[in-house]
Amino acid sequence: MAKERIVSAEFVMSNTDPAKCPEPNMPEYAFIGRSNVGKSSLINMLVGRKAMAKTSGTPGKTQLINHFVINDSWYIVDLPGYGYAKTSRTNRSSWEKMIKSYLESRPNLVYVFVLIDSRIDPQKNDMEFINWLGKQGIPICLVFTKIDKQSVNKSQMSIAKFNRELKLAWDALPQEFASSAETKQGRDEILDFIEYWNQQFTQE
Ligand code: GTP
Ligand code: MG
Repeated sequence: MAKERIVSAEFVMSNTDPAKCPEPNMPEYAFIGRSNVGKSSLINMLVGRKAMAKTSGTPGKTQLINHFVINDSWYIVDLPGYGYAKTSRTNRSSWEKMIKSYLESRPNLVYVFVLIDSRIDPQKNDMEFINWLGKQGIPICLVFTKIDKQSVNKSQMSIAKFNRELKLAWDALPQEFASSAETKQGRDEILDFIEYWNQQFTQE
C-alpha cells in the first residue's frame, strides 16, 4: 500500500484578527474563492477527513480565518468566501478588511489557492480578487472545482474561457488544477505541489 501522505490533520484555531493567528513558523497555504465554491470541501478531500472543515449547501458557512495543522509541519487555512449576494455591505467590507489584512500580513504564506467554479463563466469579483493578489505579489494558483458535475469537454471549455480572460491582465498563467471533492480528482497533484513547496520553505 502507498504511504499515507496525511498522517495527522488537526484544527488549531479560528480568528477574526490576523495578528492572533498561530506563530508563522511553518509553511502556510490558504484557500479562498466565492462562497459555496467548495473551499472547505476541497480541504477535507485533500486531508482525507470528512468534516474537519465545516461545509454547507448554503453559502456563507465559513466566517472566520481557520487554521489547521497538517502532519505537524504545515498549515492549511480555510477562509470565508466572497461574493455572497445576500451579505450586507457592512459584512462585505469587514470581510474584505479581515481577509486582505490576513493575506498581507502572513510571512509564512507560501501560496494562495484561488478556487473557481468550473461550471460558470468568468466572474468580475474573481478577476478583481485575483488581480488584487497579483498586485500584492502574493503567489497564487487556481483550482477549478466541482469538475464531477459536468462533462470533461464542458470543463475544458470553461477553463479555456477563464484563461482567455486572465491573459488580458496577466503575462503568464498561474499553476492550475481541476478538482472534485466527490471523486478526489486533483488530490495527488495538489498534495505534490504543496510537498514540493514545503521542501523549499526556509525560516527567515
Ligand atoms: P463557504 O464557506 O460558504 O464560503 O463555502 P465553501 O466554498 O467552503 O463551500 P463548501 O465546501 O461548504 O461546499 C459548498 C457546497 O458545494 C456543498 O454542498 C458541497 O457538498 C458542494 N461541493 C463542494 N465541492 C464539490 C465538488 O467537488 N463536487 C460536488 N458535486 N459538490 C461539491
Ligand atoms: Mg467554507
